[in-house]
Amino acid sequence: MPVINFNVDGKPVSVDADSNEELLWVLRDRLGIHSVKYGCGVGLDGVCTALVNGNAVRTCITPVGAVAGKSVTTVAGLSDGTNLHPVQQAWVDNDVAQCGYCQAGQIMQAVALLNKNPHPTDADIDKAMAGNLCRCGTYFRIRTAIKQVAAGKYGGGQVPATANTVYSAK
Ligand code: FES
Repeated sequence: MPVINFNVDGKPVSVDADSNEELLWVLRDRLGIHSVKYGCGVGLDGVCTALVNGNAVRTCITPVGAVAGKSVTTVAGLSDGTNLHPVQQAWVDNDVAQCGYCQAGQIMQAVALLNKNPHPTDADIDKAMAGNLCRCGTYFRIRTAIKQVAAGKYGGGQVPATANTVYSAK
């Protein structure tokens, strides 16, 4: 099997894997990153979302060969270990999570949205988040948290999509 090199949460990794193996299972089973969750397994619920070069992808249907040489960011890589990413802090402040299972994917999708569109309208938020399902129905709090970040409550400016870039909550 080929060795595939890429970055995860700011660190270089090399995996000896079939290039068609799904990124989700490489992250979870080979690299031990369990914050990326398994949901539907067919790219329909957004639970497994991570960023590849800043773009939201469904890791359950992304072959690891497609991320060779690229940067993968998981929810575990958003914080520097001390300070939360602004989107994470907004999630905490708004008590967004209920059972929490979908929330890593929701946060990563929100980061991707705000990285591309720092001031989304409600329609922009609904469109961007439409593929991330939440059985607990936390959609209103998700939208509130995204709007607070967009309004600059957590430092303003472009929301970082890469690991170890930290904004302080006001
Ligand atoms: S918080 Fe339970 S599925 Fe979203």
